[in-house]
Amino acid sequence: MDSFKTLQDVITFAIGKEEAAYQLYSTTAQRVQSPAARKMLEEMASQELGHKRMMEAMTKEKLASYDFTRVPDLKIGNYLLDVDVTEDMSFRDVLVFAMKSEEAAYQLYTAAENLSDDPEIKGVLRLMATEEKKHKYYLETMYDDKVLAEM
Ligand SMILES: [Fe+2]
Ligand SMILES: [Fe+2]
Repeated sequence: MDSFKTLQDVITFAIGKEEAAYQLYSTTAQRVQSPAARKMLEEMASQELGHKRMMEAMTKEKLASYDFTRVPDLKIGNYLLDVDVTEDMSFRDVLVFAMKSEEAAYQLYTAAENLSDDPEIKGVLRLMATEEKKHKYYLETMYDDKVLAEM
C-alpha cells in the first residue's frame, strides 16, 4: 500500500475499496439461497454503495463536520473461524463472513491512516475506518441477538 500524496489520491483509493466491497456483497447475495442471508447481504451491498457515493462527494467541509464518535467493538467476529462462501451458507455463516470482511476493511483503513501524517488524508481514512467499524458493530449486535440468543 503506497502512502497518499493528495486528498484526491486517498479518495480514489477509498472509492475503489468501497466499490470492491459493494461487488463482493452483491455477488455473494446472488449466490446464497437463504432469503434472510440474501436480504442482509443486499443491505450491506447498498451501504457500501453509500460509502462509495460518500467518498465521491467528499470535501474538506464534509470531513470537518463528520461525527467521529467512538464506536463500540464487541470483538465477536475476531474469535470466530472464517467461513467459505457457498450457496448453502446459513444466516449465521453470512453474518460471520460479513463481520470478517468489515474487520478487514477497518484494519485496512487504519493501517493506511498510520502511514500518513497529513491531517486531511488521515481524516478521510479515519472516517472510513469509523464507518466500517460501525458496520462491524451493527453485524455483531445482530449476531448477539439472533445467533447467540438461540444457542
Ligand atoms: Fe464501506
Ligand atoms: Fe463496510
